[in-house]
Amino acid sequence: MFWSATLLLTVVHLCLAKPLAPRWDNLAEKHSWADIPRGWEYLSPAPADMVFDLRVGLKQGKIEDLIENLMETSDPNHERYGKHLSQAEVDTLIAPHPESVNAVESWLDYHGIGAQHTNWSNDWVIVRVTVAQAERMLGAKYNVYHHSASSERVVRTLSYSLPRDLHSRVDVVAPTTYFATVRSMRATSFLQPNLKLTEGVSQATDISNGRVPASCGTKITLECLHTLYNTKGYVPTSTATNKIGVAGYLDEFANYADLEIFFQKFRKDAVGSNFTTIQVNGGGNDQNKPGVEANLDIQYTTGITFPTPNIYYSTGGSPPFKPDSQTPTNTNEPYLDWLNFIFNQTTIPQVISTSYGDDEQTVPRDYAIRVCNMFARLGSMGTTVFFSSGDFGVGGGDCQANDGTKQVRFQPSFPASCPFVTTVGGTVKVNPETAVDFSGGGFSNYFLQPPYQAKAVIPYLANLKLKNAGLFNIAGRAYPDLAAQGAGFQVVVNKTVVSVGGTSASAPAVAGVFTLLNDFRIANGKPSLGFINPLIYSRASGFNDIVSGSNPGCGSEGFTAVEGWDPVTGLGTPDFLKLKEML
Ligand SMILES: *[C@@H]1O[C@H](CO)[C@@H](O)[C@H](O)[C@H]1NC(C)=O
Ligand SMILES: *[C@@H]1O[C@H](CO)[C@@H](O)[C@H](O)[C@H]1NC(C)=O
Ligand SMILES: *[C@@H]1O[C@H](CO)[C@@H](O)[C@H](O)[C@H]1NC(C)=O
Ligand SMILES: *[C@@H]1O[C@H](CO)[C@@H](O)[C@H](O)[C@H]1NC(C)=O
Repeated sequence: MFWSATLLLTVVHLCLAKPLAPRWDNLAEKHSWADIPRGWEYLSPAPADMVFDLRVGLKQGKIEDLIENLMETSDPNHERYGKHLSQAEVDTLIAPHPESVNAVESWLDYHGIGAQHTNWSNDWVIVRVTVAQAERMLGAKYNVYHHSASSERVVRTLSYSLPRDLHSRVDVVAPTTYFATVRSMRATSFLQPNLKLTEGVSQATDISNGRVPASCGTKITLECLHTLYNTKGYVPTSTATNKIGVAGYLDEFANYADLEIFFQKFRKDAVGSNFTTIQVNGGGNDQNKPGVEANLDIQYTTGITFPTPNIYYSTGGSPPFKPDSQTPTNTNEPYLDWLNFIFNQTTIPQVISTSYGDDEQTVPRDYAIRVCNMFARLGSMGTTVFFSSGDFGVGGGDCQANDGTKQVRFQPSFPASCPFVTTVGGTVKVNPETAVDFSGGGFSNYFLQPPYQAKAVIPYLANLKLKNAGLFNIAGRAYPDLAAQGAGFQVVVNKTVVSVGGTSASAPAVAGVFTLLNDFRIANGKPSLGFINPLIYSRASGFNDIVSGSNPGCGSEGFTAVEGWDPVTGLGTPDFLKLKEML
């Protein structure tokens, strides 16, 4: 079995390593960039005496077992389907091997970093260091970089190394080469001012008989989604247990007053209900700064799932870098902050929707793998994690590789490309729905195609023949998995109805439908769905297949939506009633 193989390797390794004391100044590169990441520019060296917190992610002892377990408990044909793990069980699986802990302790000791400067929490240790110390430990050169689009300044290095003896012990160290911050990350929504309403929305009267009104072809309201995805009339009852969460990262906030106006216009029976904001890592909640993305996410998730409790996580970023500051600089990246926060909660929502992402190639591979494994951990505990697939088709801009070759390649988006999240693309129009042309889709360059999607993806690739050959990784994790409407969402922002588009709108719509499915399961004494990908790929008839449209980008026509799975709309859009019957 896997476990004994791991054990054997460890034993052999220890025998070989014993006679030689590890040499903590014998470094080997862990990750480096060929150039400064696009959008950033060098400003100055980081002050040598600046103090900051390094997060060292130790190799998780039994992560392979955790993933194997996740695949079993999310496979509807497996006897352990739905047997989610407890926090304690997960903690045991991800606990680093004691030898890894010893090795890291010895390394820190070698650099004179005492216990008063370290904080251990299972698979992570946070180490308070100066820039000079970090540079010695990691063979790095920390500089201040500026992101002009967001005015963000960060302290990062273009490369870092670890002692050779730690490469098998440590997955990732942050902050090092991952440049994204809360402010520089890309939210996947945009205003569609040309669709902007001049007055209140009048509901077409033929909605009640189940037919989708033609107005839904240009303006999406809650009624449209309820009708399209067959959630109309379902009343959630498991509201003491079931929850949905929205993870927000941008410096913009979900607005309470706007939600009330939204309910008055679009869902009168929900007027007076509310959501909860949880502020993570100094995330704000400024009600004078209503955000398009935040309002979109909250209005549509609450609108679909009312009266299910809804939590908006407002994750803060690093404070603006001040070279003269004596206080330690918080330089952490958004995903790690949010994930570490959520794992410290006693209850975690059964569904979490996130509408942010970046080009996969801008996320260092070691960092991406670690974050992706953290999503596997969430799935193991019974939470479904939805991400929007991105708004640039197969890639935005010139699509040049950042490895120094400048080769043009499709640009998959992360975390959309992580095999342990459920990625949602976009559609437009009704009767029938068609792929929206910005729907992000493609194939990961970091993650292999997971077995659960092989039966769906291989026929697509076979039919593709040589189209787009060389522009994408045929062996990669393919996405999106699902889709939903992605244009013309009627959102109240600052008391005014505006039209919003983006797969940002699609992800919360699908998250809402699956929250209702969880409600139904919980009401029937069943566990939440948790990680749904193995389930949905074996229940394709629960989705409306989208068979037209495409997602151009990178100067190409992109991929085309066809019968069956495709890298534009995945398996299609959800049909709540059909899925409810199947579960
Ligand atoms: C460790 O955690 C404690 C409690 O959260 C905190 O007070 C302390 O500042 C932390 N130390 C470091 C080095 O991060
Ligand atoms: C929603 O919650 C916020 C924060 O607690 C509060 O200020 C607001 O008045 C609430 N809205 C309603 C309609 O209850
Ligand atoms: C909201 O609208 C008011 C009045 O139209 C305006 O003064 C204010 O700047 C707006 N706020 C935002 C954040 O757009
Ligand atoms: C959250 O963190 C605190 C402080 O580190 C710890 O005492 C507590 O057990 C953690 N709770 C959970 C649910 O992990």
